[in-house]
Amino acid sequence: MTTTLISSRRWFVTQSGMVAAVFVLPGCNEEGSPASSNPVNDAWEARAMELEATGQGIYTADDELDLPGKGETHLPRVAVSGKTVTASTTHVMSVEADHFIQYHYVRDQADVIFALREYVLGEDLAATMTFAIPEGTTRFTVYQYCNLHWTWMAAEQTAST
Ligand SMILES: [Fe+2]
Repeated sequence: MTTTLISSRRWFVTQSGMVAAVFVLPGCNEEGSPASSNPVNDAWEARAMELEATGQGIYTADDELDLPGKGETHLPRVAVSGKTVTASTTHVMSVEADHFIQYHYVRDQADVIFALREYVLGEDLAATMTFAIPEGTTRFTVYQYCNLHWTWMAAEQTAST
């Protein structure tokens, strides 16, 4: 979709000979998506990009792709209490099987990662993280990465005001 928008804009500029003007709505970025007030952590974004490239992409409750039935133990549970959120995934953290939840991370309404936790096999006995919803974050989505079953995305949550 982004590519289409950019292509359309380029076509307009090159074909019409007109100077393009970009109008940015308050609270939105150039492409019309909701803006983020969270700082971009380049290392987190790069790591998430690597994780999301494994398996068949991003797995969800509605589309378990090539892993039917794995959602129960791989979709993150999200519990919201005011501005505090607990994300957990009910999955083994097995040293013997070398099978565990390696990451939880959270994207805001503009897809900026504002929280990330890496779990250490043999040290972290459960995959649970607690984080605060930053000021200016209106919506967020929790992701989970299993070292054998890839990246799973929970349903988007609306932040309480
Ligand atoms: Fe798994």
